[in-house]
Order: sequence, then structure tokens, then C-alpha cells
Amino acid sequence: MEFVDWSDDGPAVVLLDQRALPHATTWLTLRTVDEVVDAIRTLAVRGAPSLGIAGAYGAALACALGDPAGAERIATARPTAVPLAIGVRRVIARLDDGPAAALAEARAVAAEAAVVNARATERAADLVQELRPGPVRALTLCNTGDLACGPGGSALGAILRLHDRGALTEVLACETRPLLQGARLTVWELARAGAPYRLCVDSAGPAAIASGLVDAVLVGADRIAANGDTANKIGTYMLACAAARSGVPFLVVAPEETIDSTTPTGADIVVEERGADEVRGLAGLTDTPVYNPAFDVTPFDLITAVVTEKQVWR
Ligand code: MRU
Repeated sequence: MEFVDWSDDGPAVVLLDQRALPHATTWLTLRTVDEVVDAIRTLAVRGAPSLGIAGAYGAALACALGDPAGAERIATARPTAVPLAIGVRRVIARLDDGPAAALAEARAVAAEAAVVNARATERAADLVQELRPGPVRALTLCNTGDLACGPGGSALGAILRLHDRGALTEVLACETRPLLQGARLTVWELARAGAPYRLCVDSAGPAAIASGLVDAVLVGADRIAANGDTANKIGTYMLACAAARSGVPFLVVAPEETIDSTTPTGADIVVEERGADEVRGLAGLTDTPVYNPAFDVTPFDLITAVVTEKQVWR
């Protein structure tokens, strides 16, 4: 079964609750639009391409429930990742054709993601081997595997392709504060794949790059502006700065649809700011003022290449 899918016991969206991993494997059955919106906002499902799949199935659910206006609420549940609104709007375009057509479109969104991921990760693995022949020590942030993207993943998928080719020495997985997608999800996926890894705190990433422990940095993207500026998980920018300083390739691996031609530069990207308790909780604080952006924007000139299913954009 896919991590995000349509339930035969429906109408419902079924998904693996990413909040519970790695300690519990809990499947959620979402039967209302409100439950889908809540699952997206609370990161039960997360990662840009998986949000597109969940959004598409959520819109199909809205249609099946006779609540087409609900689909629009799903599209805007989180602001930064492009695929969420694209997945929802593809299904909205079929609403007049009825619930079966809407569900067929959602299934197409999910199926296409797997094809896109296979192409983009193959190309990205090729590029890493071109830039750094021989065994590779890769560093990554957040989670960009099957959980985040559907089958094949994006940046983590490319890293696992290198592992399949016998070309991966080690992955340094940044823990990704405050919600620990790296520590909880990337480590879970690396372990399942039998790939060699070590977990590090986010601030060890730039130090590892500067110390010569990293041959390539691979990350995903939530939104790429027309000029190449890239929004991704908070902490990406410091890794890009360090990689540029040390001459280490810094690759963004993402579906082509993540490139948003209507957003001219990174300054135009809406960066989601999340709740204070996500940050306070780590230190056991209750009322400290907090700055908690979910993403940052890496300027295009720090990126070696954006790799999609269609192109290597250097
Ligand atoms: O807040 P999240 O966990 O949804 O953030 C996810 C990321 O930043 C990923 O790196 C991004 O979506 C790119 S690939 C899944």
C-alpha cells in the first residue's frame, strides 16, 4: 500500500501518520474535509509532493461528500509547497464530471508522482556521480523520501539510488528541528533501505561540510521561484552557504511542477510560520516569544543545480 491512498472502505483518504513515526505505525482514515485539512496542518502528511497527492485525494473526498467548496480549503491548508494546490486544482477541474472522474484524477496525480520521482532521482544520482566520481558521502536535511514524495522520493530517493549502485559511503542526516523530520523519518527510511547513515544536529551540517566530510548535499524543494531561488525546510540556506564556501555540490531534487513561474524571485515566496509551541516544547518552555519559520529561501547562485524529471537546471 502507498503511504497516502484512497480507502476502499470510503469515501475516505487513508495515510500513514508521519507524526507517530518511527515509534508507531499508525494509519489514519480521513472521512471529512476538516480531517484532511487537520492532517495537513499538523503534518500527519507532509513533504511537498505527498501534500499534492493528499490534496488530490482530499479534493476527491470533498467531491464524494458533495462539498466541492471544501477542496479550496485543502488547497490553502499550508502556503509554501506548490504541489498541494496543484494536486487539489487538478481534481477541482474534474468536479463537474462527478465523483468517479474526480477520484480518477486523484489516482492519476499519485501515479504520475511515482514516474516523476523515478526520472528525477535517476538524473540526480547520475549528476552526483558526474560531479563526484567514486563513493559519495551525502548530507541531507528534512525528509525527502517515499514518505514525503510518494514512491521513489526526491533528494533522499537520489541518495538511495546511489546506495543501490554501490556508490554511497554514508549519509549524514540532519535532525531537522523543531519537528525532527530528519531524525524520525529520514533515519527510518534509511534504515529500512539498509543504507549507511549517521544522524547529526542541524548546526553540525555546515561544520561537516567545512571539515571535508561531505561530497554532495542533496535537498528537496517546496517552491522554486522563476529565477531559481528555492524555498525548502528551515536550515537549507546555511547548508547551501557552507557548500558554496567549500566547493561542495549542492543539488535540489524536485518535481518540475515545483518551479513556480508566477513567483519571480525568492522574495515573493510565502514562507509558512508555524506555532510557537513547536519550538518552546524542546526546552520545556511555556510562554517564550518564538520565531518559527518552517522554510527558508536559498538564492539560486548557491545552488549547483536543480534536478527535475525534465531537466538539470544549472
Ligand atoms: O514542513 P515539511 O515537513 O512539509 O517540509 C518538507 C520539506 O521541507 C521538504 O524538504 C520538501 O517538501 C521537499 S521534498 C519532500
